[in-house]
Formats: sequence, structure tokens, C-alpha cells
Amino acid sequence: MSNQAVIQVDSIVKKYKDVTAVNGVSFTVNRGEVFSFVGPNGAGKTTTVEILVCLRDLTAGKAKVLGFDVSSRKGKQQIRKRVGVLPQDFNTFDLLTVKENINYYKRMYGNVGRDTDDLIKLVNLEHKSKTLYKNLSGGLKKRVAIAITLANDPEIIFLDEPTTGLDPKARRDVWKLIEGLRDQGKTIFLTTHYMDEAQVLSDRVVIISYGKIIADGTPSELILKHGGKTTLIVEDGKKEAYEVLKTKFPKARIENGDVLVPINNKSDLPNAVMALNGNKTKFGELIVRRPNLEDVFLNLTGKKIVDGELN
Ligand SMILES: Nc1ncnc2c1ncn2[C@@H]1O[C@H](COP(=O)(O)OP(=O)(O)O)[C@@H](O)[C@H]1O
Ligand SMILES: [Mg+2]
Repeated sequence: MSNQAVIQVDSIVKKYKDVTAVNGVSFTVNRGEVFSFVGPNGAGKTTTVEILVCLRDLTAGKAKVLGFDVSSRKGKQQIRKRVGVLPQDFNTFDLLTVKENINYYKRMYGNVGRDTDDLIKLVNLEHKSKTLYKNLSGGLKKRVAIAITLANDPEIIFLDEPTTGLDPKARRDVWKLIEGLRDQGKTIFLTTHYMDEAQVLSDRVVIISYGKIIADGTPSELILKHGGKTTLIVEDGKKEAYEVLKTKFPKARIENGDVLVPINNKSDLPNAVMALNGNKTKFGELIVRRPNLEDVFLNLTGKKIVDGELN
């Protein structure tokens, strides 16, 4: 069962009049993995999700979900039954309680799968089950939404930007839920514009920009390939530390008073520290900074994503 492709996307294209939202995208998602589809606003993430859950038709290309073709009538029926989707701006009935809201969706799906109390427990909302939806915080609303997404006991769970706009604590709560679902063998298709989130959660990451895939791999593969070097930061080292280091480390540079030294091999770090020590150089702290997915995106595109926007 492991490594079995549950989503196969082959050169899909989606055009809306004069906008090509998705422009020849191909990837596969394996059973049981957390797969992250990462990119800035407007990259084509939601459109791709909508195609895979059969809410939108393709302009060109081919996509299969759980072996079923998203373009066939029979495929659509099967896929809709077997996946769960949390849309980007999902909201549910303000004046129903948590439990009543989940019950509503349970009944709509014919009461298959886990019962409502189980779902409430799964998202840790037992203490709020009688609270009106409108009186919940953003983070708790998101947990209700995730419970609703699980109402039909789906094999694949699509979560479209489930943490956008949440505070850091609520984001981490959602991360824990995602990890819990993965541990239960579910396949998670996550979209996000938060690189740290993709790095922490994902087994595999695909980065999309302007409707095209620009990278595909595990977080560590992508960081190794595109992230750049580990850097020693000599805080507040200034010219003095720079002078000490520059002969052995010609690529060292000063940035805002800090000296940045690219680390190429194991001996570089102790050598740099010894050189600073031997010369009694003054500096603040020594920080070793490893590259991350943000660096990958920056190196590939020349840009950062700030609040979802290219910057
Ligand atoms: N229904 C639509 N009609 C026209 N253009 C759309 C529609 N939906 C999305 N788009 C455009 O398609 C592009 C991709 O959008 P979307 O898939 O929502 O990206 P993301 O989810 O990554 O922010 C954007 O340029 C967006 O404006
Ligand atoms: Mg979107």
C-alpha cells in the first residue's frame, strides 16, 4: 500500500477566459503522505484543488484521484464520495452549536464513518460542543471545519490554506491535527503559503508559481539542492571579525554589522571559531543558520512570500 499513487496529475491546464491559472502542472501524491502545494496568492493552488475534487473542469491534461478520472462522470461520483475538502474561506452556520453543525454534515453524507462525538473528540472540542459557532475564535472555527471535512471519513483530505490568518498557537494546533490524521493513515493534500509550515509538516512539497511547478521533492531534498549553504553568523562582528576571517574565508561578508561566513565542510566551523578566539575578536553571539524552504523559494524566484504575496 505504501508509495501507492493516490493522485496522479499529468500536464493539467486551467484557463479562465484570458487567465491561465494552471499551466501544465504534473505531480503525484502517494498514499499516507502529507503533500504540500506551496505558493503565493494567485499561483493556482485553489484551482488545482478544485479540479482534483471535481468542482471545476480541466481545460487540458489528465488527472486521476484514487484511480478515478476527474473528467469522467463515474469518476466524479466516486471521488466526491471518498475525499474531504476544506475550502479556503469555509464557514458554517453561525447560530448552530459545534455539535449541531457537525451533525448537519454527518446527516448530509448519510451518517457514514465516525460519529459526531468522535469527530468532536478528534479535533479536541469536547469542551465547546454546545457553543454557538459564531462565538468561537478563528482557531476553534477552523477545528470545527476540519471535523466537518472528516464527516464522510475521507481517504484523502484536501486542506486549502487551513492556517492562513490564524495566530501562532492556533496554527500549531492545526499542525498537530494534521499530524494526527497522517498517523491514522490518511493522505493530506495541504496548500499553504507558509514555508515553515510546509517544511515542518510535509513528506513532499511541490512549489507552484504563476501556474507552473518550480520545484518538487522532500523538504530536505529541496533544501539541499536549492537552499544554499549553512552560514555562520558572527553577530556584531563588524570589520574587526571580518578582517580576521577573510583570508581563510574569502566568501565572508558583512551584513548589517554581522559577519556571515558560508560553511562548506565540517572543519570550517571550528576553524572560524578558533580564528576569532585566537585574535580575541569582539562580537555578539555566534549563530549557525541552516537554510530552509524560504531560502529555496528565494533562490528559485528571487522573491520572498510575505503574507501570501510575492515580495
Ligand atoms: N473563477 C475565476 N475566474 C477568473 N479567474 C480566476 C478564477 N478563479 C481564480 N482565478 C485566477 O486564477 C489564478 C489562480 O488563482 P487561484 O487558483 O485561486 O490561486 P491560489 O489559490 O494559489 O491563490 C489567479 O490569477 C486568479 O485571479
Ligand atoms: Mg487559494
